[in-house]
Amino acid sequence: MPRTLKTDIPGEDWRVSPEQARQKGWREIFAPDLEEGFPLVVEIGFGRGEFIIDLAARNPDTAFVGVEYNRGRVVKMARRLARREFRNIRIVEAKGQEVVCDLPLNSVSEFWVNFSDPWPKDRHAKHRILQAEMIHAMALRLVPGGLLHAATDHENYAEFIQDRISKESLLENALTPFPFVREMPERMVTAYQKIWWEKGSRPYFWEYQRVAREPLLEEAVDPLMKGVWRLFRQEG
Ligand SMILES: C[S@@+](CC[C@H](N)C(=O)[O-])C[C@H]1O[C@@H](n2cnc3c(N)ncnc32)[C@H](O)[C@@H]1O
Repeated sequence: MPRTLKTDIPGEDWRVSPEQARQKGWREIFAPDLEEGFPLVVEIGFGRGEFIIDLAARNPDTAFVGVEYNRGRVVKMARRLARREFRNIRIVEAKGQEVVCDLPLNSVSEFWVNFSDPWPKDRHAKHRILQAEMIHAMALRLVPGGLLHAATDHENYAEFIQDRISKESLLENALTPFPFVREMPERMVTAYQKIWWEKGSRPYFWEYQRVAREPLLEEAVDPLMKGVWRLFRQEG
């Protein structure tokens, strides 16, 4: 029997619309709850939300923005957060690309993209979130020394990510001499990772750091520029 999604929020509602985020900006949205100068961390595709909840619980002075485009997951997360005491998480129902393009440059300390959908068929690879353009857009928004963490357990997507991320000139590999690692014992195991681990699949993890220098002129071009992304969104 299909279960109906409960949509009432039993407490404070920490959802923020993309429009609110655009108009107010994340600094102002978190300002009443956090000390000025707080770091900003963004997780894209939070799924069941356990990973960002764990990070937020361990780092109460850091602001966490969770982005997820599946409405059911966002509502479930909003209900879950309403029953907890967090003041340092906000969630957005939107595509990661949209939220990233609205973020100011040099404003994010860390991005997490955990087990994003692999779109295994070649003709669907254009839907993968970790495209070169998205990686560059995130790199432009990281503060110098800020980190992009990515993970997948899909071999073909792993090759794709490795190729794109290693070519990003504003990022350097923080796991050198390894291009990626297959284990990160200190990292929380996400729901998706657990399901596939039990079926025998082993993950790949990347950690790339924003270089300290300013972008060169050609690197400063933002591939997710608002207008371009909005146009792209309308097209489907
Ligand atoms: C395979 S699940 C992984 C969920 C979670 N990160 C984990 O490791 O358990 C991928 C998640 O990303 C979300 N997602 C996919 N593309 C997205 C996008 N462009 N923007 C935001 N969320 C996205 C999906 O709805 C799904 O919840």
